[in-house]
Order: sequence, then C-alpha cells, then structure tokens
Amino acid sequence: MGRLQALGEIGALAGGGVCRLALSEEDKAGRDLVVSWMRELGLDIRIDKIGNIFATRPGTFDGPAVMTGSHIDSVKTGGVYDGALGVLAGLEVVETLNEQGIQTHHPLTVAAFTNEEGARFAPDMMGSLVFVGGMSVEEAYEVVGIDNKSVRECIESIGYDGKQECGQTAVKAFVEIHVEQGPVLEAQGITIGAVEQVQGISWQEFTVTGVSNHAGTTPTNLRQDAGYAACQVACKARQIAEQYGGYQVATVGVMNFEPNLVNVIPNKVSFTVDLRNTDEQVLQEAEQELADFIEMVSRQQRVDVKSRRLARFEPVNFSQKVVAKVKQAAQELNLSVKRMPSGAGHDAQMLARICPTGMIFVPSAGGISHNINEHTDSKDIEAGANVLLGVLLDLLDTK
Ligand code: GLV
Ligand code: MN
Ligand code: MN
Repeated sequence: MGRLQALGEIGALAGGGVCRLALSEEDKAGRDLVVSWMRELGLDIRIDKIGNIFATRPGTFDGPAVMTGSHIDSVKTGGVYDGALGVLAGLEVVETLNEQGIQTHHPLTVAAFTNEEGARFAPDMMGSLVFVGGMSVEEAYEVVGIDNKSVRECIESIGYDGKQECGQTAVKAFVEIHVEQGPVLEAQGITIGAVEQVQGISWQEFTVTGVSNHAGTTPTNLRQDAGYAACQVACKARQIAEQYGGYQVATVGVMNFEPNLVNVIPNKVSFTVDLRNTDEQVLQEAEQELADFIEMVSRQQRVDVKSRRLARFEPVNFSQKVVAKVKQAAQELNLSVKRMPSGAGHDAQMLARICPTGMIFVPSAGGISHNINEHTDSKDIEAGANVLLGVLLDLLDTK
C-alpha cells in the first residue's frame, strides 16, 4: 500500500488520481521509482527495446520464468490502481519470498509493460504486443501519438529504449492482478474475480471532411456539415450497443471540430469509436453495421469520411488450468470468488498468445475506473495479493 501511494504521487492530479501518459516525463519518474524498488529487492533488471521492464528473482534452475506484472502508464485522468497494482503486487510477492527465504524452482519475473493504455499512442497493450511478437519494434517506434510525437522520439528522450531484443525471455506462465474497473464484484459482494476471458477490442479513428460556411446564411439542405455527420455516427454507435445488448459496448471518446467556432459550419471533424464484445462474430457485425451507416451518412450529407484503424484485438480465452488455480488459491484463503470476463484490455491478453495465462480481479468501488476517483479497499488489495502469492507459489514450484 505504501508503494501504491508513493507511485500515485508521481503525476498526481488535484483531487486524486494520476496523469502518467506512456513515455512522458511522469512515466519516466514512475519507472525510475519502480526500478529503484526492484533493485532494493535484489532483482536482476532488464529493459527491452520497447521499454518493457523485467525484474527477475532467480530460481534453482535456469529455465523459463513464471511472470507476473502489468503497466504503470495511465490515461490522462487515471486512478492510482489501474496497472500499478499488478506491478507492485508482484514486488510484494518477491519481498515475501525474500523475507521467508523461499527458494523456487522456476525464476520469477515481475514485468512493467510499456504503453498498456494506448491513450497517447495506439494500439493499447503496445509493449506486451511487441514482446509476444505481434508487432515489430520498428513499427511501434513509428507510431505517432496524440501530441504528434513518435514513440521513438519519446522513448529515447526518457532513456528507456533498452538493449534487450524484444521477446527474448521464455515464459512458463503469466498471471496478472488488476482492479476490476467494473461494478460486478462489488455489486455481488465477491472479493476475487478469476478472469476467464478478455473481450475483443476495435478502435477506429474517422475523419469527416465537409465545407465550412456561414452558420446564419447557409440553408440546412445546402450544408456539407462535417459536425452533424460525425454526431450522427456517434449516436449510431450508441444505438448499436443498445440494440445488440449483452456485452456489446460503444464509446466515442474523442471528437475534434474544426474550426471549432460558434458561427462556422465545421469543415473537418475527427473522432474515435471504441467497440468491444466478448463474441468476435458479433463484434464484426457491429463494425460492419457502423461502416454501412457511415457510407450512407457520407452520401446523404455529401461529406468525405476517411477511417484509420487504431487497434483491433480478438477476444481472448485464458488457460482453464490457470483460471482453476486462481479459484483454488482464493478458496484456500476462504475468499469468495467468481469466474468472469474482463471488459478492459490487459497485458495478460497478449501474454496468452505465448504461455498459459490468467488474471485475478479485485473489486473497484462503484465500478469506477479511468477516473481520478478509482478506488479499491486495502483489504481487497491484500486479499488479491495473497491470491497472487498462492498462484505464483504453485506455478513456481517450491519443491
Ligand atoms: C485499457 O485500459 C483499455 O481497456 O482501454
Ligand atoms: Mn490497466
Ligand atoms: Mn486502463
């Protein structure tokens, strides 16, 4: 809890929460602090070319490590637990093993992955995606963020462009603890989520181009109003979510108007659409329905619409063996536990491509996250960290 609080002071926002956008000066300060703790714990620290930090406690045999971890970057209005919990609970496990003098067969690696949020540079989960070979470092370096700076420029400027080639480390299994970021555990009075699945994510950016004209003199039927067209699409995204129901969600989180003046019809609007579903087929249908609607709006409003893919990840199922271990570790501690899907994206969904993977959720007060008021009770954090310890001890093999 002390480390969570100390890390939460870096990039702290008035009223609570943090702004530690990936590869920013605040991210660098957070990384430096986390690395100093890793050193104090006697861990062997490696940094790869995309800036992922790996801190390893050796085992009695020099084989693949069991890995845990998450991210310490945040959205602009982030809470102090999102990501940080997964990295710092990993360090807490290491500290416990050190204090108890426990030798493990497999090495244990605590990872802090670069740019999980994707709020500054798309796609999200960039560091773990590159680590598992889903994107090349060169391609990631070329990504330009919301402030028109590239990943290459920013990673070099904070000095976290490490030497290690990405993906060199073999991984026996991966377990990530994270706050739920949703309302389910709290509403049902359950302490631990054994996460079975992460829903698919589709991020697109659309740029609508119309014609600026006088707001007072231009008759409605003669307008080529980029703002109106963009808003029609935003409303359609919401309608799709409502009609499909179930796990389908849709969010328009960015919308920029040009010239953004009270008496000028907008000539250019760029906006993003985030669509998610646990079912790949349904997610594809939602994407298609939105695309068809955009084509119709483009024709009717006589505006041009260009689209750019920011991220696209299919739903991921975790290893039933690891999910069962999470459930068992919780039950051994007499904690209530339920199997559940994750609505948010996580580094674990990338690691699932290369090794047996699972996740542990702890409740989020009021289901609030990506908000400075994000909160998780310290007793739930302690419970979750103890579940993590149990699962890791099992995977690390202490015999
Ligand atoms: C990451 O936090 C995401 O799910 O957007
Ligand atoms: Mn997160
Ligand atoms: Mn997040």
